Amino acid sequence: RLLSVVLSGGAGSRLWPASRQAFPKPFMKIGDSTLLQQAIERGQACGTGDLMVVTNKDHLFLTKDVLGQMSDPPATTFLLEPKGRNTGPAIALAALQCARQFSGDTVMLVLSADHLVPDVHAFVASATEAFRLAQEGSLVVFGVSPTSPNTGFGYIEVENVSRESQGVKRFVEKPDLETAQKYLATGRYYWNSGMFAFTADTIIAALEKHAPDVIRAARHALETSKASGDSINFDLHAFGLQPDISIDYAVLEHASNVHVVPAKFSWSDVGSWPAVSDALTPDASGNTLPDDVVALDTTGTHVQVESYGPKVVATVGVRDLVIVDTPDALLVLHKDSAQKVKKVVDVLKARK
Ligand code: GDD
Ligand code: MG
Repeated sequence: RLLSVVLSGGAGSRLWPASRQAFPKPFMKIGDSTLLQQAIERGQACGTGDLMVVTNKDHLFLTKDVLGQMSDPPATTFLLEPKGRNTGPAIALAALQCARQFSGDTVMLVLSADHLVPDVHAFVASATEAFRLAQEGSLVVFGVSPTSPNTGFGYIEVENVSRESQGVKRFVEKPDLETAQKYLATGRYYWNSGMFAFTADTIIAALEKHAPDVIRAARHALETSKASGDSINFDLHAFGLQPDISIDYAVLEHASNVHVVPAKFSWSDVGSWPAVSDALTPDASGNTLPDDVVALDTTGTHVQVESYGPKVVATVGVRDLVIVDTPDALLVLHKDSAQKVKKVVDVLKARK
């Protein structure tokens, strides 16, 4: 049995104003559909039957909207968090629920709700290999060839980078820049894509061994939760007793049964506005913008308009800008300053 587990948590403040607290990145449309829908369809393409979505309770209706728009939505269980506790507890809860609702030997394909993987077929090939390893008791990660010493990723060390899956020597979450540069120079590392495959029993055993406080608190949170229909609601206090820790720090850095499947697919965590425009097909001038934008002497520019009514947008004589217009916020950004967008969010928070 295969189960998709979609983690839909972070707000993604680098994509303000399209992504924000009340309307985070998974609900952003890239291409024809939201990132969340693409993640769900990615799981379905791999043959997972049921779906479990772990998300904040405030996002249940947005999530159901997304499922409601799908032609073939999977049977879904919602684990509704009263607040964020990071991916360690989210995955622990999903594994415990999976073991009790289905079975401990169910393979969980854990997907981020905010990643872009345009080639679903290539992903299915990697996932099929991952399922095989997961059934043998491995904790499987998908390795992406690193292109820069990005300090926002986990780094996976192997004996020799190859096209084949293999055991992982070491997993290091978010190293500092100097360390990341060193890793890159050796050519023996992958980036962790942040998608995983393992059976519920395997991840529960790994949590028991390496993060007993996480699994114990998750058990308590699940025992004190209330099911209503397809949703599981957690008690705020019991939920809050869970440590705030990612699965990478809690388990992957310590476990010895981690296997990496090299990604045969292209992948982006769409972490910034330039990454969004890179994910789209540019026109002859390198612009990614709606057809009705009047773009004169404009190159390398991304325009996104999310207004209620029709609105004419024109750009003249500009290069490498990002322009995002929403009903209550307008962003004009130079692509070189993309990492600073989250400072806008900080300023707005401080104003409140
Ligand atoms: N439900 C739920 N609750 N989901 C969460 C929570 C939470 O408390 N926290 C994070 N998530 C979801 C996010 O929405 C995202 O889909 C996924 O879990 C990963 O969380 P991020 O916060 O985006 O993690 P990261 O990007 O810093 O690091 C992870 O992903 C990298 C690749 O993008 C790690 O796994 C890294 O090792 C990896 O390289
Ligand atoms: Mg991320």
